[in-house]
Amino acid sequence: MLKTLDYKNGKLLILDQRLLPGKIRYIVCRNAKDVADCIKTLIIRGAPAIGVAAAYGVVLEAMQYKNDKGFRVTIKKAIRLLSESRPTARNLFWALERMQKYLSENYNTEILCKKILEEARSIEKEDKDSCRAIGKFGQHLIKNNDCILTHCNAGYLATTGTGTALSILYEAKSRGRKFMVYVDETRPLLQGARLTCFELVRHGIDVTVICDSMAANLMRKGIIKKVIVGADRIAANNDVANKIGTYGIAVCAKIHNIPFYVAAPVSTFDYSKSKGEDIFIEQREPAEVTEFCGIRITPKNVNVSNFAFDITPSEYITAIVTDKGIIKCHNV
Ligand code: MRU
Repeated sequence: MLKTLDYKNGKLLILDQRLLPGKIRYIVCRNAKDVADCIKTLIIRGAPAIGVAAAYGVVLEAMQYKNDKGFRVTIKKAIRLLSESRPTARNLFWALERMQKYLSENYNTEILCKKILEEARSIEKEDKDSCRAIGKFGQHLIKNNDCILTHCNAGYLATTGTGTALSILYEAKSRGRKFMVYVDETRPLLQGARLTCFELVRHGIDVTVICDSMAANLMRKGIIKKVIVGADRIAANNDVANKIGTYGIAVCAKIHNIPFYVAAPVSTFDYSKSKGEDIFIEQREPAEVTEFCGIRITPKNVNVSNFAFDITPSEYITAIVTDKGIIKCHNV
């Protein structure tokens, strides 16, 4: 598996996911701003991965300014900058809250830097452990000759471990199960076509890419047997924010009596949001929709809606596979 990020010698290397599957190239980050820019521009993406990256962003800033007078103020500013990079993924804020808590302790600068680095390392380790646990809890959902639909990328590229939704598939494959996977291309940024297909092909999994609009037809024909996706934030009532298009798939799955599973670590749950509608949904640049590979595909001056995520109410979800076990939501 490729590393999504690597903290080494006071630098953070981040895999540039915009270039995949064509090129494997790492960007060197030296401070929090470099990391925030990587998150904003989707050089690194996926809820758990951006949480870990942000934690190391705080570390980079701490290492760089540890001899400066206004050290704590600088770190607080870095945390604010990182928290403004993307609004929907809960894991980003979960990781930054963990980093922030050391600033209110009375440590000297040297100890504080050490604690901050240890915390980032344990956030990364917990991410890896969570991915493995999700895979183990979820693998039994995959049966021989299954045909699974997934959306966006909830694989190792979205985490620092083996992924969330795709970790279940990797674990099932390692146990000898035979199945095939349909992957929605996931407009506008094609995380499914570019990233999920890249991962699954490299893993020797039987994969078929489809345009997003083709999924409903495959469900009606009885080809898709189950759906597994990741999550960016989960409200207290188990409503799920995930990549735009997830809601439509869930509604369609329900109509066709197809189980719909979400896979996410507990760090993606946000109990301060009682329901999905309370989750803030990121809107991104119109050019992501009006252009394709840098070429304009719409007339000028057309209005654009570009919500990056949508909400799937828990009534459409069969179960949520977490790193602590499976939460049953609704029967299909
Ligand atoms: O905009 P992205 O690529 O960051 O969106 C990612 C997703 O929607 C994933 O499904 C989600 O973060 C879960 S990743 C384990």
